[in-house]
Amino acid sequence: ASILMVASEGLPFVKTGGLADVVGSLPAALSEIGHEVKVVLPLYKKIAENNFQDLTLCADYTVSINYHEVPVRIYSQTIDKVAYFFVQHQGYFERDALYGYEDDGERFAYFQKAVIEMLNQLNYWPNIIHCHDWQSGMIPCMIKETHDFDPRYRQIRFVYTIHNLAFQGNFGPQMLDSCLGLPYYLLDNGNVRYDGGISFMKSGILYSDKITTVSPTYSQEILTPQYGEHLELVLNMRKYDLWGIVNGIDTKNWNPKTDPDIPYHFDKVNLKAGKALDKASLQAELGLEQNPDVMLVGVVSRLTWQKGFYLMMEQLSAFANAPIQLAILGSGESQIEEAFRNLENANKGKIAFYKGYNEALAHRIYAGSDLFLMPSLFEPCGLSQLCSLRYGTLPLVRETGGLKDTVDPYNEYDKSGNGFSFAAYNAQDLVHTLYYATDVYYNRKEDWDTLQTNAMNTDVSWENSARTYSLLYNELMSQ
Ligand code: ADP
Ligand code: GLC
Repeated sequence: ASILMVASEGLPFVKTGGLADVVGSLPAALSEIGHEVKVVLPLYKKIAENNFQDLTLCADYTVSINYHEVPVRIYSQTIDKVAYFFVQHQGYFERDALYGYEDDGERFAYFQKAVIEMLNQLNYWPNIIHCHDWQSGMIPCMIKETHDFDPRYRQIRFVYTIHNLAFQGNFGPQMLDSCLGLPYYLLDNGNVRYDGGISFMKSGILYSDKITTVSPTYSQEILTPQYGEHLELVLNMRKYDLWGIVNGIDTKNWNPKTDPDIPYHFDKVNLKAGKALDKASLQAELGLEQNPDVMLVGVVSRLTWQKGFYLMMEQLSAFANAPIQLAILGSGESQIEEAFRNLENANKGKIAFYKGYNEALAHRIYAGSDLFLMPSLFEPCGLSQLCSLRYGTLPLVRETGGLKDTVDPYNEYDKSGNGFSFAAYNAQDLVHTLYYATDVYYNRKEDWDTLQTNAMNTDVSWENSARTYSLLYNELMSQ
């Protein structure tokens, strides 16, 4: 099929979270199996600064926002068979951060309008538009409500992927007319209404032909009030069109055998020596005590409530007293940052907190750690646990969303499993599982080795999931 992916971030251009990894690697996996995939992103400041010389201007037009004609320029670049389009508007997108502004609603309304008109300007008519998260959630609605008379738009089918239901793009009602150019009866009939305003996420769910989320477990969880973020009833209306497809990672980029960001290379046959050297140099880099025998626990994460660090904060002394070293990389909510900073200060040489975003260091933590901690409150899929599996680092996770689907807990009887997990969102259970993991690490070394091999044998590639997306696209096109 010919597929246009619409997203708000994607590698190798910009990334704030896992969405960028997915948008950066799924298109290539789909094109391997015969699909023609193009991607459209906003042209952010970082892209304008780093990539502008590689971009070609391919369209120049206007769209109406706040009753004014606002200019749009489309630039493009092709990387490995995947064509990327960029929507350029200096005022809306060339800012320091990607999101978090007062006018985000207007910015992404503009983006989506620009994308819809881009098809006409380029005379490019994909079979499928695949939208990701709220920033592109209005596209199916806008095309179906305002372009349905045009057979070129009418033939398009829509897939909407929910990467995180917690971010919904909810805005005031006035935007419906002023920015999106949609009639007010969509508020009255409830199609886009949410809490008196409008919801890009809800609209994506109701207007798309198929909805996907990024793991089977999360696709079930979001049908319940506990995880549904007040959209569970809407999701239940669409549950027969809702698929859960687990993410993969780019196994060429994430490869301990060739990774340019890690000092020593290893693979599953020759794991021990290389991994031990990576551990030693990580300890040196982060100022941890130089000790090959202590279990090194890694964390690479956005530090937000979603990731379960409040559980850890209930039991900081248990972490400080455990026979482990802890290497934490991340930034986010100041409360969590402060707790980790204090924990480091009280435990110099044992616990290290690197505040910030650092891709190369992330690779070295995945490679040099023994255990990777991810006790999420909820986790649509999670990519970090997949990266750590790929580097023979056993994930310790809470059994939710994609963590449940990708981490198979250690079974001491048949020696199966590739990590450790606990079910209830409960600090005691987290600590208990951590201590259990240390017991396996120190006292059942053979089992630990088996688990590491199992981890490295886990298929974390896109192969299977790309085939499932393929089935979904084909099903849509035959309708
Ligand atoms: P989410 O998208 O919810 O943040 P995922 O696990 O899906 O979580 O993806 C997170 C991605 O971002 C992973 O590739 C992870 O390595 C990376 N990442 C998260 N925090 C940092 C950080 N501080 N520095 C570098 N990479 C990070
Ligand atoms: C979101 C989710 C994460 C998922 C990622 C990519 O950021 O929080 O669980 O892996 O999207 O789908």
